[in-house]
Amino acid sequence: MVELYGKDFITTQDWSVDELEYTIGVAEKLQKIVKRGDRPANMLDRRTFFMLFYAPSTRTRGAFEAATAILGGHPAFIDVSTTRMEEAVKDAAKMYDSYSDGIGVRILDKNIDYVYGAGLKVVKEFADASKKPVINMADCTYHPTQGLGDIWTVRKKLGKLKGKKYTISWAYSSKPRGRCSIQEEVLIASRFGMDVVLAHPKGFEIDEKIVDTCKKNSKASGGSFEISNDFEEGIKGADAVFPRSWGSNEFLRVGASKFGMDKEIAIAGKHKEWRLELNHIKDLMAKKSIVTHVLPVMRNEEASDAAMDSPNSVIYEQADDNFFAKMATLAVTMSKEVPL
Ligand code: CP
Repeated sequence: MVELYGKDFITTQDWSVDELEYTIGVAEKLQKIVKRGDRPANMLDRRTFFMLFYAPSTRTRGAFEAATAILGGHPAFIDVSTTRMEEAVKDAAKMYDSYSDGIGVRILDKNIDYVYGAGLKVVKEFADASKKPVINMADCTYHPTQGLGDIWTVRKKLGKLKGKKYTISWAYSSKPRGRCSIQEEVLIASRFGMDVVLAHPKGFEIDEKIVDTCKKNSKASGGSFEISNDFEEGIKGADAVFPRSWGSNEFLRVGASKFGMDKEIAIAGKHKEWRLELNHIKDLMAKKSIVTHVLPVMRNEEASDAAMDSPNSVIYEQADDNFFAKMATLAVTMSKEVPL
């Protein structure tokens, strides 16, 4: 029996595989209902989901806002720069807890000076202060609803996950970013039994605790987890590749102000060959392989237009599935009953 009502969603790693599968099942049902032009039951009738955006967003905001409305609730979009956030986080969190039925928080990149750990700290402060479910809408470390939607798309496209190689690769971009989508992806893919390869140049290692967790996940799920420092070797034979930039170790450790943005861009610029091209898909990856991306993709930096627009690319279906993964997350955490 899966019971997620009132539960926080900070990372997919906090939920059991049964809970994640249950939520994907709810997402599938919601998607069918909405795609045939109907509307699901008002599971969030007169409930308010406060969406606190410290950081900008295209997809996450749009998806949570529309999803809350479709379920009959009220999505309250809060641009945190318009609030009195000079106060202690817990003081604001207690107030949102009292006014809401659920709270979403997004805090990453520029808003935390790229300092690894600083965003998750705030998300946890909200979760500690609030009895209502707190949904992590992306921080410096995790992006749980993204990972949940992505694994659903990858499984649909590949048929099964066991024995399938998923390469989550660093890719060049002139715009430094955090690691949340990457770390969430390796966590959930290793949990669901895939042969996961994390590829990156030296100096772009991810959180070593997450690497350890991925190794444990793979042991438990019957998959595997490897790290490669060679782009072409990493994607060779892959059934799925996710090409995505993230900041260098030192940049994310000390933050942009101390490290220097120009220095970070120059470091990334030494690895411009880490870019997915059409010939990689045709000649190196497995037959019937897919290319994923959480978006926004830095076109012609992380991957060429030809690669991202190729028939192998599943990026728009992935964004659509992510919408329903977010809708399902709201339903299961904020509604006592999910009548589907
Ligand atoms: N994938 C994702 O989180 O996109 P946004 O940054 O546009 O929300």
